[in-house]
Amino acid sequence: MTPRIALAALTLACLATLGHAQQAKLKVGLMLPYSGTYTALGVAIENGFKLRIEEQGGKLGGREIEYVKVDDESDPSKATDNVNKLIKRDNVDVIVGTVHSGVAMAMAKAAKESGTILIVPNAGADAVTGPMCAPNIFRSSFSNWQPAYAMGEVAAKQEKKKKAITITWKYAAGNESVNGFKDGFEKNGGQVTKQLNVPFPNVEFQALLTEIAAAKPDAVYAFFAGGGAVKFVKDYAAAGLNKTIPLYGPGFLTDGTLDAQGEAAQGMLTTLHYADGLNTPRDTSFRTAYAKAFKLQPDVYAVQGYDAAQMLGIGLAAVKGDITKKAEFAAAIEKTKIDSPRGSFSISKSHNPVQDIYLRKVDGKENKMISIASKSLADPARGCKM
Ligand code: BEZ
Repeated sequence: MTPRIALAALTLACLATLGHAQQAKLKVGLMLPYSGTYTALGVAIENGFKLRIEEQGGKLGGREIEYVKVDDESDPSKATDNVNKLIKRDNVDVIVGTVHSGVAMAMAKAAKESGTILIVPNAGADAVTGPMCAPNIFRSSFSNWQPAYAMGEVAAKQEKKKKAITITWKYAAGNESVNGFKDGFEKNGGQVTKQLNVPFPNVEFQALLTEIAAAKPDAVYAFFAGGGAVKFVKDYAAAGLNKTIPLYGPGFLTDGTLDAQGEAAQGMLTTLHYADGLNTPRDTSFRTAYAKAFKLQPDVYAVQGYDAAQMLGIGLAAVKGDITKKAEFAAAIEKTKIDSPRGSFSISKSHNPVQDIYLRKVDGKENKMISIASKSLADPARGCKM
């Protein structure tokens, strides 16, 4: 081969590689619970995420999507190893996860250190968009403070309750949810008289329900979700407490759980950034598409997964699929209103949704929207320096 022909061949090979690189698939690491008490939540998030990708023809920013999945088991002790498998072994371009706040904090630390884009589709850990906030970390869901604070306000101002007992799993999400409720409740004249805890994911509630019955507060505020929420709401009713002491919570207590909770949940008031009966064209088309694809009604977790994919799509469209352009990717998400089934929302400077929080009431198998408890509620983002 003459030097000229060799050079031409090399140039052609380079061009072919470049073309291939431009079209390389975008690797999305889904780190979610696929076992344990939060399994249904992980599955709903994945469903919602994939629904949006399918609606976009399987591509975002011109790139096809490839998935790598890790079951995080909602176990913080395995979280660093699990997230590093995605970052270092699988070389993912983006991580989407997770549900459990303790696991999410380990993921945020790894994402911050490596610079990998992370979109959190549930875990409300205040720290993720507080002291741990970073230009490459986003949340499509909520902070633990948001729905809890709104419920505290409703319990004191609208329901006129004075004394409340709180009960939760003892880990970041439960502790922060209780603090948020206390914040809203006590600012409006209420008082939290006792804070009860069980270890995560324990569901032995009997002794604590006996304690609540003896104390006779005006209300109980509880943070549980998934399988634990089903058990708690049923045990509360089986103890007869739902007849005398109203049970409030963030909407996780009754979202995606009503089939299993049945009669025990009827009439319960909760606050959340999603509800049944919104009846907007955007929500109706989402719900119809979700039901058709999965033969299931969507819940808040499905919406958060769907919106994680919407946020990723907005960022990738702005950089034409080149996810290494992180500043432009972030700027696009920061300036766009996300057209969510929950109602449109914006992303705060700390990268958490600024969104309406609905007051909902359980009616049959629905968490029916009653009113907007808190309009465009932003997390205080304490400790975020960005
Ligand atoms: C959390 O750990 O942040 C969480 C888990 C389930 C529902 C809501 C929050």
